[in-house]
Amino acid sequence: MIRQWLGARQWLLLSLGLSSLTQVVAAGITIDIDNTDSIKSAASTVAYDLVTFYTGNNSGDVPGNLPDPYYWWEAGAFFGTLINYWAFTGDTTYNKITVQAMEHQAGSEGDFMPSNQTYTEGNDDQSFWALSAMMAAERNFTNPSSSSPGWLAMVQAVFNEQAHRWDSANCDGGLRWQIYTWNAGYGYKNTISNGCFFDIAARLARYTGNATYAEWANKAWNWSKNTGLITADYQVYDGTTVDSNCSSYDRTRWTYTAGIYLHGAAVMYNYTSSLSSNSSSNSSTVWKNRIDGLLTSANHFYSTDNSSANVMEEPPCESSGSCDTDQLSFKAYLSRWLADVMQLAPYTYDTIIAKVRATATAAVSQCQGGDSGTFCGHQWSSGSYDGTTGVGQQMGVLEVLHGLLATDISGPVTANTGGTSEGNSAAGTGSDETESEILYSAITTADRAGAAILTVIIAGMIFAAVYVMLV
Ligand SMILES: *[C@@H]1O[C@H](CO)[C@@H](O)[C@H](O)[C@H]1NC(C)=O
Ligand SMILES: *[C@@H]1O[C@H](CO)[C@@H](O)[C@H](O)[C@H]1NC(C)=O
Ligand SMILES: *[C@@H]1O[C@H](CO)[C@@H](O)[C@H](O)[C@H]1NC(C)=O
Ligand SMILES: *[C@@H]1O[C@H](CO)[C@@H](O)[C@H](O)[C@H]1NC(C)=O
Ligand SMILES: *[C@@H]1O[C@H](CO)[C@@H](O)[C@H](O)[C@H]1NC(C)=O
Ligand SMILES: *[C@@H]1O[C@H](CO)[C@@H](O)[C@H](O)[C@H]1NC(C)=O
Ligand SMILES: *[C@@H]1O[C@H](CO)[C@@H](O)[C@H](O)[C@H]1NC(C)=O
Ligand SMILES: *[C@@H]1O[C@H](CO)[C@@H](O)[C@H](O)[C@H]1NC(C)=O
Ligand SMILES: *[C@@H]1O[C@H](CO)[C@@H](O)[C@H](O)[C@H]1NC(C)=O
Ligand SMILES: *[C@@H]1O[C@H](CO)[C@@H](O)[C@H](O)[C@H]1NC(C)=O
Repeated sequence: MIRQWLGARQWLLLSLGLSSLTQVVAAGITIDIDNTDSIKSAASTVAYDLVTFYTGNNSGDVPGNLPDPYYWWEAGAFFGTLINYWAFTGDTTYNKITVQAMEHQAGSEGDFMPSNQTYTEGNDDQSFWALSAMMAAERNFTNPSSSSPGWLAMVQAVFNEQAHRWDSANCDGGLRWQIYTWNAGYGYKNTISNGCFFDIAARLARYTGNATYAEWANKAWNWSKNTGLITADYQVYDGTTVDSNCSSYDRTRWTYTAGIYLHGAAVMYNYTSSLSSNSSSNSSTVWKNRIDGLLTSANHFYSTDNSSANVMEEPPCESSGSCDTDQLSFKAYLSRWLADVMQLAPYTYDTIIAKVRATATAAVSQCQGGDSGTFCGHQWSSGSYDGTTGVGQQMGVLEVLHGLLATDISGPVTANTGGTSEGNSAAGTGSDETESEILYSAITTADRAGAAILTVIIAGMIFAAVYVMLV
């Protein structure tokens, strides 16, 4: 406390009088959204507050983990936001902790299935880390150390593993939410897992130029559409059950599920525009129509009140204040992907930037919480700070600010336009199986009863070993 009072800034403020001191404290973050320096300065404050939640670089802690209540997947998203922060502002402050964390959590096989996480890991969890690695490749972020696979190779490993998990035996395809039978949600094909796979395939196609990835992107889009997870008017549902042969849905519409398909469609639009010929299922016109449909349908996620028109909301839970920790972060991803869409499909710029500007203004104005008086809440359109703080809230506002800078930096690169990330198209397919692949094949070759028996046998062996030791 005393040291704080002796700070130069405080002395200056005191000399300006008590009234200006209170004014500064109450003002939170101020921003001129037409001024790049002002946007960057606001972003720097939001990023600083965001990183206060991270403990993984403390000695004794594990690089890449966020403390409770944040799940592992959200940490993956967190480092993506820090990569974007560097890409859009040029501030390198957090690059070191980001490279360290992502290398560590990529695990021994470089596929974001580190041994501490595999048992409960879902396809979407793995994907959120892969998406951050893809951002690193596309933004030409600092490459990992030479002993580690490149960012691109990590994404390719995740792609190959998920393509291998594509479940043609049920509902004509699609990914299940969970990787392993023992996790709740194994019987659910959730849209975000399939949307992430679609997006990863599209981005690999664009980055590498390898058409096999584009074929998978088409396949994943087709399946999502044909299964009814994307409706005729481009509403994007939460998911569907395997038991119903994918005919019964959870129709909840989240910002990020709509956002991931919009992003993937923009990547495919950009990729197909660069090809030398158009086939009927593979033309930029097809993808442009999809972008336009998804963009129109995304109006659902914006306030229509006059006082907060065009401000992004999370309709299922925001106004009631019932969003859980995961859900508090979803607007960050739609915001992140919109910034990319403006770069990948520049014809969307005018439509999107109007919403980004309204959202950024409202979002920043409510960043008045926490010890610093600059932490952000979640209810941007309400016009006042909602009293909450968290990683999701900080990431959300930061990603919106990046959108304001979409024309200040060049778009995502490819291997042909300056990308330097090292790839390996065979990553994740090797005969040198990872622990997870061994588990996976054990479960798919045995039936579920077989897996249960296996568990009983292993438990029995452990019991016997302990018994022998004790005797
Ligand atoms: C961890 O990283 C943050 C952000 O760079 C920094 O503020 C903090 O001092 C670091 N902590 C340690 C123990 O290195
Ligand atoms: C796994 O967890 C243990 C215990 O928290 C930790 O010491 C270790 O570093 C972690 N390993 C990885 C790869 O994160
Ligand atoms: C399940 O649905 C797919 C289409 O999604 C259909 O091709 C298949 O015949 C259905 N299977 C059963 C058993 O109804
Ligand atoms: C799209 O068209 C290009 C150029 O004709 C072709 O090389 C590529 O294989 C096609 N991709 C898909 C997914 O059909
Ligand atoms: C996707 O569906 C279109 C028709 O809607 C078809 O022409 C195309 O071959 C399908 N692509 C894949 C990879 O399934
Ligand atoms: C592919 O189709 C789009 C839309 O019709 C067009 O703008 C583009 O020039 C076409 N590309 C080629 C190589 O013909
Ligand atoms: C909202 O704005 C519209 C158009 O500016 C106006 O016609 C309408 O009366 C306004 N509604 C309220 C409740 O202020
Ligand atoms: C594809 O993306 C690049 C990079 O952002 C952009 O410069 C280009 O205009 C995009 N292509 C199309 C057809 O919009
Ligand atoms: C990518 O990063 C490398 C290494 O930092 C640098 O040499 C290169 O100029 C960068 N390329 C672009 C397009 O920024
Ligand atoms: C393209 O990607 C596929 C799928 O991972 C891979 O099997 C193939 O070897 C790749 N082709 C090239 C030329 O890298």
